[in-house]
Amino acid sequence: MIVFFIATVVYGFVAMDLKVIGNYETIDPQNLSDTPFGTPGVKEVTKNGATEYEVYVQTLQFAFLPGTSSPITVPADTRITFYITSPDVLHGFDVAGTNLNTMAIPGQISKFTTIFPEAREYGIVCNEYCGPAHHIMEGKIEVVP
Ligand code: CUA
Repeated sequence: MIVFFIATVVYGFVAMDLKVIGNYETIDPQNLSDTPFGTPGVKEVTKNGATEYEVYVQTLQFAFLPGTSSPITVPADTRITFYITSPDVLHGFDVAGTNLNTMAIPGQISKFTTIFPEAREYGIVCNEYCGPAHHIMEGKIEVVP
């Protein structure tokens, strides 16, 4: 049964030719504390004289950190770069109603940059099966003016 399940998942990856947004760097999933993921959240940065934001998110069984117990709050009309990784198992990071969607893979950093044009709220869902509470793993992005 388990072998069948794994084979199905592996086959699914090959068959669907999954595309992932963003590029990847590697990281030790057991040692996130010494990295920016050790203090997950929103950081204001300056690049080429312009204010941008970086958001470091851990996906865990069964929450986004930040995102679940508190929303990821970012300003509208500003470049936001998300860095996402997982300390435990494969998760998804899917901003509902947008094309922002990436896998969160233990040992790798998923990165994408976006601009939210207007203030509103977005839901985040995990779209990779990650365990018995996968279906309740969700979070929120609060885009403020
Ligand atoms: Cu995390 Cu499904």
